[in-house]
Amino acid sequence: MTKSKVFSHVFDEETLRNVNKLQGDGYISNLLGPIGTGKESYVFYSRDFHDKLVAVKIHRHNIDAFKSIPSYIRLRGRKSGGFIKQINDWTRFEYNFLSKAYKLGVNAPEPIRCYENIIVMQFIGTEGNIAKQAIKDDNFDVDRWYKLITKIIIDMAKNGMIHGDLSPYNILNYSGEPFIIDFSQALKLSSSTVNFLIRDITNINNWFLSLKYKNLKELKDIIGEIGWKDEN
Ligand SMILES: Nc1ncnc2c1ncn2[C@@H]1O[C@H](COP(=O)(O)OP(=O)(O)OP(=O)(O)O)[C@@H](O)[C@H]1O
Ligand SMILES: [Mg+2]
Repeated sequence: MTKSKVFSHVFDEETLRNVNKLQGDGYISNLLGPIGTGKESYVFYSRDFHDKLVAVKIHRHNIDAFKSIPSYIRLRGRKSGGFIKQINDWTRFEYNFLSKAYKLGVNAPEPIRCYENIIVMQFIGTEGNIAKQAIKDDNFDVDRWYKLITKIIIDMAKNGMIHGDLSPYNILNYSGEPFIIDFSQALKLSSSTVNFLIRDITNINNWFLSLKYKNLKELKDIIGEIGWKDEN
């Protein structure tokens, strides 16, 4: 089977049209190898006009993917337009949060383009050295990473943002540097979402505890550094 036939089996017609549009506009060339497949998305790598590697995250247009959109995000989508529209809205939402985090200076893939259910972003790695999830590659300076990652959580929260799914599955290790990915569950910080911030901090602390890190900060101290107060 040719590569394009494989893709036409995997993707619905609308997604194929969206891939074609990005190719026609020069943002991507052919989709090269897949680098990740989840229930909600496929991630491929490709090349842009200048032959630079890019990552292409495609949210699946199907009912299972729709169901996995967290209900608090689903509620935000417009009622009209059905689930394809809502998956596209969800993709745009992820892209906007990634862009905001990147502008803040968070070590995250540089956002390049969002079109319907597809995000094009900087590829973390090289063809011969694709960055691995930190859960699969703990070859890094644990002390430095803990300080960097807690600083990212604090900086984002000070700017009203929560990653919402922070864990060693959504942090890539590229040559010893941490890159935060997957902003699909990101949230604005408020009294009704602060529990997700607490969950992110707890997940990171538990992970570093499992790495036998000794200088963990307490949750209350991190929240104190953020300076967040419930105004309700
Ligand atoms: N910019 C990138 N550069 C390199 N690899 C990437 C990039 N973005 C994603 N990946 C790879 O693709 C995988 C899936 O990406 P991501 O976590 O964003 O998707 P997901 O659908 O939320 O997956 P999951 O449901 O497993 O969390 C990542 O674990 C990583 O290996
Ligand atoms: Mg993920």
